Amino acid sequence: MIFVVTSNDNKWEEMRHLLRAYGLRVGRIKTALPEVQSQSLEEVVTFSAKAALNEIGQAEMLIEDSGLFIDRLNGFPGPFSSYVYKTLGCEGVLKLMEGERERTAKFVSVIAYVRKDGEVRTFHGECRGRISDRPRGTKGFGFDPIFVPEEGEGQTFGELDVAIKNEYSHRSRSIANFLRWYGTTSGS
Ligand code: IMP
Repeated sequence: MIFVVTSNDNKWEEMRHLLRAYGLRVGRIKTALPEVQSQSLEEVVTFSAKAALNEIGQAEMLIEDSGLFIDRLNGFPGPFSSYVYKTLGCEGVLKLMEGERERTAKFVSVIAYVRKDGEVRTFHGECRGRISDRPRGTKGFGFDPIFVPEEGEGQTFGELDVAIKNEYSHRSRSIANFLRWYGTTSGS
């Protein structure tokens, strides 16, 4: 059994569908791990993975860190997305983008797989899109109502069911990269 360590119900919902669809047995540990401030999501998630190893110590664990990178804002809020969401929210980000015509952005997800023997591996996934003019939709979490993925039909993630979001989200791609590797190492 692989344990997903996250305090975020939405992340768990997305991740468990993807992992179970692949046939893995997955459980959840609902706790917030310590995070470092860093420009690199890989660094943040590796730090948390090591904390999980020390504090939880299940045989196999997955930890995820993600962020919204807005091109016109030089990648802001990026690794600081969680703090910016709490302080400014979607409306605050829309204000920063007021009058901007260049609205391209990407969501990035990095997953760390950590094993009791100390092995930590990270897997990356991205979803490109743009920042909408106003919040739309009530599904999902965080910046979902203001992010329009390139592959969709113009709806924000906030307007899409989790199954559709999972078809091309950053998180589904980091998980796909993990599963590709995991399949070749574990024979599952
Ligand atoms: P963390 O990965 O828990 O540090 O938080 C990342 C933050 O980025 C979240 O609090 C959200 O605000 C934002 N975020 C990351 N992934 C998503 C997503 O799939 N939808 C909406 N917001 C996201």
